Amino acid sequence: MSKEAKLELDGKVYPLPTVEGSEGEKAVDISSLRANTGYITLDDGYGNTGSCVSKVTFIDGDKGILRYRGIPIEELAEKSNFIETGYLIIYGKLPNRAQLKRFSDLLTDNQFLHEDMKFHFEGFPMGAHPMAILSAMINAASCFDERLMRWKWGETRDFDVYVARLISQVRTIAAYSYRKSRGLPLIYPKKAYKYTANFLHMLFSTPYEDFELKPEVVKALDLIFLLHADHEQNCSTSTVRMVASSQANLFASCAAGVCALWGPLHGGANQAVIEMLEEIHREGDDGSKFIAAAKDKNSGRKLMGFGHRVYKNYDPRAKIIKKACDDVLSKLHINDPLLDIAKHLEAAVLKDPYFIERKLYPNVDFYSGIIMRALGIPVEMFTVIFAIGRMPGWIANYKEIMEEPKGRIYRPRQIYTGRTLNHYAPLAGRK
Ligand code: CMC
Repeated sequence: MSKEAKLELDGKVYPLPTVEGSEGEKAVDISSLRANTGYITLDDGYGNTGSCVSKVTFIDGDKGILRYRGIPIEELAEKSNFIETGYLIIYGKLPNRAQLKRFSDLLTDNQFLHEDMKFHFEGFPMGAHPMAILSAMINAASCFDERLMRWKWGETRDFDVYVARLISQVRTIAAYSYRKSRGLPLIYPKKAYKYTANFLHMLFSTPYEDFELKPEVVKALDLIFLLHADHEQNCSTSTVRMVASSQANLFASCAAGVCALWGPLHGGANQAVIEMLEEIHREGDDGSKFIAAAKDKNSGRKLMGFGHRVYKNYDPRAKIIKKACDDVLSKLHINDPLLDIAKHLEAAVLKDPYFIERKLYPNVDFYSGIIMRALGIPVEMFTVIFAIGRMPGWIANYKEIMEEPKGRIYRPRQIYTGRTLNHYAPLAGRK
């Protein structure tokens, strides 16, 4: 039997229904609150607000649990790969052999960008940030498909093709944006290569020589994509849902997700972590000065790669990535002083009362940057890698909005605290 909450306001008691999720998560349903009471709720940063119901990803932040469509992230990291996991996230079930083949074929058939898109790349200045290029070019890519431009909200015909095109082309765009930012010639994808290998090929091959695809490098990057594939209602996914709720197309909605991801408090943290570790290394600090600054609210500094809105325990992705980091560095015989600093920093923080009291643990971005550095990926591409990985999650959330029978536009309210009514009066001396 579902429970009922009671709200007492201005001497009246209002019953409010409650909702319980499949993993026992509880919510008070306030959908009728304003109509019945005239009040709205106020929740800074949405820390207590469920913006939707969703079947895609489950997180228990206190226990450090993350599951895509019910399957623990640890099992997927060990047994699956990014493309199979992407299918699972978008379509709700692991694919059978025929479904996986069709999905792979669609990815291959859609990996080339329209040749005219090269002119768009030429318009960006050298040194443009690849996240800016990525967002702009995802939107631009939609203009090159006349059917997508004519697509009507909810039309499911060809939707699978758009899904595959977006996942496939985002990787091509990402590689081109890097090549462009370095003034290097563009490298086309190859039919024979699988998803992650192809990305490395487009990033690092030259017109004369193909990049050597070491299996441990391909595997490590594929794992990074998989670990980022979804993470329920974070800043970028909520942005995708917000844009989708206006019935904007898939490409436009996901391009908005890229912009939301860019900031250092979200996906941009992986770049910020490496910059922080480099700074500590440059200054010959063992991390103590930086930790002290991060605890001082006036310093404006934070320990990048630590803390999470939902995890109040170890981020399960960070555990997997820390182990992968050790494996990759030893297989590639890389000795990175930044890894030593990172480990020292982590050990110091886990003993520090400031971080213990606030339950601040390493998150996924703390070690992912060190792996990407070891793979030779330039730091400005780190957040782009996150965006490629997150694409299945954004698409799955877009699909949920599109399939919602009573889909309403997302439109929060506010409490106005500005000036009350005052009338137009020209400034003195102005005619
Ligand atoms: N370093 C120092 N203090 C911190 C940190 C940090 N990294 N993170 C949180 N705090 C403090 C914060 O100042 C506050 O202290 P007090 O209670 O004294 O005011 C307390 O811990 C609670 O933090 P909050 O700001 O209320 O937490 P939030 O849920 O609003 O923010 C966060 C979450 C991830 C934005 C934040 O922890 C942070 O800025 N971390 C560093 C950036 C980072 O690593 N981001 C990647 C997140 S994981 C990838 C992703 O999903 O995007």
